[in-house]
Amino acid sequence: MTEAQAQQRGGFAEADGGLRFEVDGEIATITLDRAEKRNAQTFATWSALARIGENLPEQVRVVVVKGEGPSFSAGIDLRMFTPEGVPGQGSFGSTAKLPNERFEQRLGQAQQGFLWLRRPEIVSIAAVQGHAIGAGFQLALACDLRIVADDVKFCMKEPALGLVPDLTGTKPLVELVGLAKAIDICLTARIVEADEALRIGLAEKVVAGGDLAKAVEDKIAELLSVNRDAAVATKRLLQGARSRSLEEQSKAEGLEQAARLRALFG
Ligand code: CAA
Repeated sequence: MTEAQAQQRGGFAEADGGLRFEVDGEIATITLDRAEKRNAQTFATWSALARIGENLPEQVRVVVVKGEGPSFSAGIDLRMFTPEGVPGQGSFGSTAKLPNERFEQRLGQAQQGFLWLRRPEIVSIAAVQGHAIGAGFQLALACDLRIVADDVKFCMKEPALGLVPDLTGTKPLVELVGLAKAIDICLTARIVEADEALRIGLAEKVVAGGDLAKAVEDKIAELLSVNRDAAVATKRLLQGARSRSLEEQSKAEGLEQAARLRALFG
């Protein structure tokens, strides 16, 4: 898609970041768009994601993250491991020489591209086919829901490369599958295929590859069928549940419900 076509559809095409962004009413779609490089990600990808989060139109309720071609994403661009790096974005070699503060700032900027996908105001859905490796796996984990094709292959490759997963993926992974399974997946860098992903809670649904788009459309229709403000308040409650005691959570439910009742009947 050209920049002009993307703009006509309320979005943009981010050549350097390798992605497209389109808005259609209450639905926004982010498409990793470098199929020929298996949607490998760079710092420019993460800046573009962060920019989308910062400028997301208020009416958007559902954000879909998907990838063109056979793979959702093959993770970080392997040129980062070379001395030359990614043109204009440096390499791991140059990143390693940054002072702590500058490194934290650079990583923090990258993580912003992932963190906003959990906002209460939206539900984010990763539509995942083929490989979701490293940063690709973490991008899928940054979304609220994962609908996957039956050829999906999740892999947390970072430890095999001497690195840790640092794009916000470790917490959602532990919360979804538990500590023991997260250790098993990350510290072996093994591949998790569709059946296991469904069984351990990594995926909400597995469908044949050709049915992925339709399965996502169906889920969007279900999500949009409920009251918007109630959905936002309920997501807030659910997100806070783990860190609150039962008493605190009950109180939070009451506060949200009082606000709902006032809005509906007050
Ligand atoms: N970065 C850059 N280019 C990549 C890439 C990557 N991560 N993955 C694939 N490509 C390129 C290949 O070099 C190839 O390019 P050419 O056609 O120019 O040679 C093209 O994409 C197609 O790749 P394959 O022929 O290998 O495609 P495939 O479908 O047979 O295999 C794959 C797909 C299994 C994903 C394989 O490409 C692969 O293993 N890629 C590397 C995965 C990887 O190790 N990623 C790093 C994860 S760690 C991470 O992400 C760390 C972090 O966040 C800090």
